[in-house]
Amino acid sequence: MTDILSLIRQVPNYPKEGILFYDITTALEDPIGLKTIMDTFIAQFKDQKIDKVIGTEARGFIFAPTLAYALGAGFVPVRKPNKLPSVTIGVNYALEYGTDRLEIHADAIQAGERVLIVDDLLATGGTAHAVTQLVSQLGGETVGFGFLLELDGLGGREKLAGFDCYSMITVPA
Ligand code: PRP
Ligand code: MG
Repeated sequence: MTDILSLIRQVPNYPKEGILFYDITTALEDPIGLKTIMDTFIAQFKDQKIDKVIGTEARGFIFAPTLAYALGAGFVPVRKPNKLPSVTIGVNYALEYGTDRLEIHADAIQAGERVLIVDDLLATGGTAHAVTQLVSQLGGETVGFGFLLELDGLGGREKLAGFDCYSMITVPA
């Protein structure tokens, strides 16, 4: 299999001094890299009877619609505040400093639907955990998570304990 990690550019001191940023754009712009990433996600989830794939704004939008299409599922965006036009529910969640909020259309998931949550990165797990709260408020079942990259050592996997959590690549934080 193509070594996806070798296609991900590592940018030192971005967005601030001392942070090593994993820039997935270099893997996405490589046709073989993009195909390998999507084929790997599809193979991972194809037998799980997924009804809806959630992508979380912004970088989750890169993967979720294509994965939903391939799985024969629907795509649902979870967005930052005041971006969705109809009736929404929202959840506030803690960041390192302050809080943030994510919203979903209240009619985007039906009771009992099986939901997969996709994002580029698992770090602290705060974002992903917040999305599970939206799914459960609408009566859906979070079947699992798919991440391209997991930063190990920030507690994300622990925060998502009890859920099936797939990361294509894991690197130390
Ligand atoms: C990034 C990343 C994940 C999240 C992971 O999103 O895309 O969604 O952080 O971090 P966590 O596990 O600690 O919650 P961010 O909101 O920074 O930016 P984006 O809008 O570019 O996706
Ligand atoms: Mg994000």
